[in-house]
Amino acid sequence: MLGWLFISLFLLILFTLLFKFLTADGDFTLMSKKHVKREEIEDKVVWITGASRGIGEKLAIQLARLGAKLILSARNEAELERVRKQLVGKHAPDEVKILPLDLASGEDLLEVAVEEAESFFSGAAVDYMIHNAAYERPKSTALEVTEESLKATFNVNVLGTISLTRLLAPFMLKRGRGHFVVMSSAAGKTPAPGQAVYSASKYALNGYFHTLRSEFCQKGIKVTVVCPGPIETSNGYGATASEKKASSEKRVSSERCAELIIIAASHGLKEVWISYQPVLAVMYLVQYMPTVGYWLMDKIGGKRVEAATKKGNTYSLSLLFGKNKAA
Ligand SMILES: NC(=O)c1ccc[n+]([C@@H]2O[C@H](COP(=O)([O-])OP(=O)(O)OC[C@H]3O[C@@H](n4cnc5c(N)ncnc54)[C@H](OP(=O)(O)O)[C@@H]3O)[C@@H](O)[C@H]2O)c1
Repeated sequence: MLGWLFISLFLLILFTLLFKFLTADGDFTLMSKKHVKREEIEDKVVWITGASRGIGEKLAIQLARLGAKLILSARNEAELERVRKQLVGKHAPDEVKILPLDLASGEDLLEVAVEEAESFFSGAAVDYMIHNAAYERPKSTALEVTEESLKATFNVNVLGTISLTRLLAPFMLKRGRGHFVVMSSAAGKTPAPGQAVYSASKYALNGYFHTLRSEFCQKGIKVTVVCPGPIETSNGYGATASEKKASSEKRVSSERCAELIIIAASHGLKEVWISYQPVLAVMYLVQYMPTVGYWLMDKIGGKRVEAATKKGNTYSLSLLFGKNKAA
């Protein structure tokens, strides 16, 4: 009798965990943090790059609502102004600062931007730097990448992002606190057929920022590396709503993605994954069973590039089991 009770309990726990895994939109640690710690955000200065659209715009909206003091950056000043106008919160829209910058413009100009950001708010300086801006080209094979695209991707995603960090971190170290939130990608954790250079740029970010944390965490520097899978954004290189419908890819909404990023940062999580299945399962496989994970990616690599060129579903299980059905 007691034996049956234990078996039933074990099965119940197993099925509950399986159900949670299949329906999750983030990794287990992230899912265990249900709410944002508001006190970690309210009145804090948060600088967001890539705030003119997509996930960056949603981050600005939610952080404003939580009472953060915001600095919004991207190249397009008019779009930043559009985002600023719609913000509502304790310090928004009137106290929100617009700081246009091009991450590929070199250290001298980035240094000026850092000095401005540090002095915008009297008695407060940058608490969170959200490295969200990125450059992504439409999918192609690893060999079709042009030198121009290679340089453009690395200049923005890697060199500009690292330079900005090198210039800002000394100010944070002087204060003994500062938090970098880094938008990496599932493509920075697993092979991403069709996105070799983008993937390489995100792997580079993971390496730099996890190392930065290990060197300076004792001096108050925190790092949260965020690895989203497919996210639905209304512009940029994320899928638009109509593209999503056409390709039947299941994407986490940009609002939910922003919410999970803020939860992760406010809890000081070191790395989080945001995605539906099957991408989440592939990330677990590559992280914990790389032989199986890489075997799986090798099976689908060619078909995924083909699906991408036909604007089909690049995350479908049919890439593994069936003939590829590009939309
Ligand atoms: N969407 C997804 O499915 C997905 C999945 C995984 C990871 N991510 C990552 O999440 C982040 C946001 O993605 P998203 O889809 O929201 O991006 P997005 O819509 O393409 O927006 C990119 C942002 O970066 C800015 N930007 C581009 N080049 C820049 C430069 N040289 N200097 C300064 N800012 C620049 C753009 O503004 P301007 O053009 O005005 O400069 C824009 O605000 C990125 O790091 C991306 O790699 C996205």
